[in-house]
Amino acid sequence: MTKIKSTFHCQECGAEYAKWQGQCNKCNTWNSISEEIKDVKKDKLWDHTKSDLNNSNSKPKSIDDIKIKDEFRIETNDNEFNRVLGGGIVPGSITLLGGEPGIGKSTLFLQISLKINHRVLYVSGEESDNQIKIRANRIKYSNKECLIYSENKVENIFSQAEKIKPNLIIIDSIQTLVTSTIDSMQGSITQLKTCTAELINFGKRTSIPIMLIGHINKDGNIAGPKVLEHMVDTVLQFEGDRNHLYRILRVKKNRFGSTNEIGIYEMVSEGLKEIINPSEILIGNSDQKLSGTAICASVEGSRPFLIEVQALVSTAVYGTPQRSTTGINSKRLNMLLAVLEKRAGFHLSSKDIFLNITGGLKVEDTGNDLAIIAAILSSNSDFNIPEDYCFAAEVGLSGEIRPVSRIDQRIKEAEKLGFSKIFVSKYCDTISSKKIDIVYLTRIEDLIDNIS
Ligand code: TYD
Ligand code: MG
Repeated sequence: MTKIKSTFHCQECGAEYAKWQGQCNKCNTWNSISEEIKDVKKDKLWDHTKSDLNNSNSKPKSIDDIKIKDEFRIETNDNEFNRVLGGGIVPGSITLLGGEPGIGKSTLFLQISLKINHRVLYVSGEESDNQIKIRANRIKYSNKECLIYSENKVENIFSQAEKIKPNLIIIDSIQTLVTSTIDSMQGSITQLKTCTAELINFGKRTSIPIMLIGHINKDGNIAGPKVLEHMVDTVLQFEGDRNHLYRILRVKKNRFGSTNEIGIYEMVSEGLKEIINPSEILIGNSDQKLSGTAICASVEGSRPFLIEVQALVSTAVYGTPQRSTTGINSKRLNMLLAVLEKRAGFHLSSKDIFLNITGGLKVEDTGNDLAIIAAILSSNSDFNIPEDYCFAAEVGLSGEIRPVSRIDQRIKEAEKLGFSKIFVSKYCDTISSKKIDIVYLTRIEDLIDNIS
């Protein structure tokens, strides 16, 4: 009798163990380890004596001999989504979309299915036909060729797809799929990997692009091992604050385009609205400028836009002062505060500091540093920064003001929105502009002299 080989995998991080244990040593999660059958058939292993080299059609060829067919992409009629993918969906490609529960992943893909002028097979293992129809009614687009299919068996999906011949398959979500080729439980690592591998083969064979929704675990990674991200062609991440309306679609990996692009949407009652001019909505619209706000000419991906940073500095009521941020990395704030304390002599250690990016966006650009410092100084000394000033520079550990990428695009965007002055680093390329006054700074002390 052959012995069935089994292994134990952590369902959170994918670590492998020889026997069961209560806690994963790698990610410290409790009760995440489960058994998976690993039935390796001996005759499937490669045997050099039986090498079938002569029967194989594929052989290595010179890179010069490879001819690229005209690149064709499926247009989705959603400008943000097209741009993020690098111009549309590549036939036969596999795209994985991750994001927190309730952020709008199903809404985004259903909306794409309704906007696109092609036949779509929308497979849902999570929601019933009724639930999907209710959601589709809210989204004002319609597509007769959008076929809804509640199913979770990969084989059935393939046989329907062979019959229907859709131009796009959407799967909500990869964690609900099962394949009968293996015995593991639905949602287990082995099921996830096998289903994804089968989908990839199907996609490549038929040239039908497949888009998958993937749940994320508590660390923000797509649940299942990282290997899932390695297997697919494109990995997208949908983020935003659930209490706010704006959502950012980022690219973590793209075999067919840049990973610098982002798409911005607003969640409204009729689904996700594309935001064509992000700057106009991200800058607070109050007539009266208050202390503690500063505008930064930021770049996320390859897109410049202006955002408002708000800071509140107040005397700490309790012993340990609070540092709270939304939309910005709190470690970055701590570093900037240390620089202000050490290099510019500001004693903020007994103050509570709250920092916020309007609109609930999460920004990663270090070019926002100067605006953050300006907002903190403005709130601390209670003075207003003129409303037509903006900032675009990084601050270094010794208090020097450093240049940032795409400075010309940032300046152009600020100019377009009618700003009169922009503060940048002295070390960036000199740019001339008639409409906007460009102020070059070397150290943070220079900023203090210029705005207060
Ligand atoms: P959903 O797409 O179900 O999220 P996910 O698939 O990522 O879990 O999005 C659900 C949220 O979106 C829900 O809280 C309601 C909201 N929503 C709107 O605000 N407007 C709409 O038109 C739709 C369809 C959803
Ligand atoms: Mg969903």
